[in-house]
Amino acid sequence: MSETPESGPLLELSSQDLRAHVAGALTRARARSVALTDAVDDEDLIRQHSKLMSPLVWDLAHIGSQEELWLVRDVGGREPLRPDLDDLYDAFQHSRADRRALPLLGPAEARAYVREVREKALDVLEKAPMSGRRLTESAFAFGMITQHEQQHDETMLATHQLRRGEPVLHAPEPPHAPSGRRLAEVLVPGGRFTMGTSAEPWALDNERPAHEVDVPAFVLDTTPVTCGEYLEFLAGGGYAEQRFWSAAGWAYRQEHDITAPRFWHREPDGWWRTRFGVREPVPLREPVVHVSYYEAEAYANWAGKRLPTEAEWEKAARFDPVSGRSRRFPWGDEEPTEAHANLGQRHLRPAEAGAYPAGQSPLGVRQLIGDVWEWTSTDFHGYPGFGAFPYREYSEVFFGPEYKVLRGGSFGTGAVAVRGTFRNWDYPIRRQIFAGFRCARDPRPGEVA
Ligand SMILES: [Fe+2]
Repeated sequence: MSETPESGPLLELSSQDLRAHVAGALTRARARSVALTDAVDDEDLIRQHSKLMSPLVWDLAHIGSQEELWLVRDVGGREPLRPDLDDLYDAFQHSRADRRALPLLGPAEARAYVREVREKALDVLEKAPMSGRRLTESAFAFGMITQHEQQHDETMLATHQLRRGEPVLHAPEPPHAPSGRRLAEVLVPGGRFTMGTSAEPWALDNERPAHEVDVPAFVLDTTPVTCGEYLEFLAGGGYAEQRFWSAAGWAYRQEHDITAPRFWHREPDGWWRTRFGVREPVPLREPVVHVSYYEAEAYANWAGKRLPTEAEWEKAARFDPVSGRSRRFPWGDEEPTEAHANLGQRHLRPAEAGAYPAGQSPLGVRQLIGDVWEWTSTDFHGYPGFGAFPYREYSEVFFGPEYKVLRGGSFGTGAVAVRGTFRNWDYPIRRQIFAGFRCARDPRPGEVA
């Protein structure tokens, strides 16, 4: 049993190439932040589009504020630019619902602030040693801040989805699924595998350390559940029959009168949805998105299946049955390319189920990375040996039964902010995130050799 050897792309780079790699990643993340905030006018930037979300202009300045705190002040040891902003943009001081009422920087000031911080951060990148401190080893702090910006790019994309009005975001269509027969499910053999990582330089604290887990044999869907499959659940009375739902899920369904995924509308000619301001018929072959954990769980019960555990999901995504090794991604150790996965907001929707054959796992499981976040049945907890780094609020304060783990990233997730070990978490009622799911089940007698 082992994980990825002590190499991986970042560890093989010279210090100069590492700096160039970091600068490229920061620049790409910023290009997306700028595109998401330039797409709307100033009024839209300061508006709160939903109580669930911050105004876009808060996200923008918060990206700069975190970059200033970690890269300019901590790594660089430089003087604060705007110490007066620390509290305003501290996500733990103010709930999303309250941020609109704060004396926030206006759009022009926020843009100028993030530009100034970035100039200083790139200067620090040129001069700071990339070793000697855990925070700077393999440029960890720069990786953390790049991931942070990409995470807010996905949050801002979710705000765009909640925004009313004419469409302002545009992107080419994702690739179709190749034709031909494909297995709907695969058997993942039982046994131990290495979960989590101690070798991935930019892995966050909750992904660490690598540890062995014994996962009994299970059967997993090769693709996420599609809208077409989900419509059968609707038509089959899935939302009307309590027996498919957990007690908490049914209470939530009743209280909010939930009868379909968020952003779906029933029309005389069938189901339609709104996607970034575009109304379109629900696409039958595309993975369903904007469903809560409770809806995913009810669907799985209706289908006679269950949701995978987090360990099952990661084993399907990383375990190579030939070598016995856990890899960085389903396709191997290489960084994601456009052929592997639908990431980075290149397309503004999931690709059809069965797309991205080059990104499949050795057992033939597709779209584990990208397209839609996948709900797992596991509560968010630290791995054995967990240590908070660089601060408790990154993930430790969220450990507990109120959050479910999501895996794999969505079409809205940046490539630096996802990998086979990456863990996301949210409340089981959340639907504005780009989350779908796939089903698992126990093997039937005779299925396991
Ligand atoms: Fe943040």
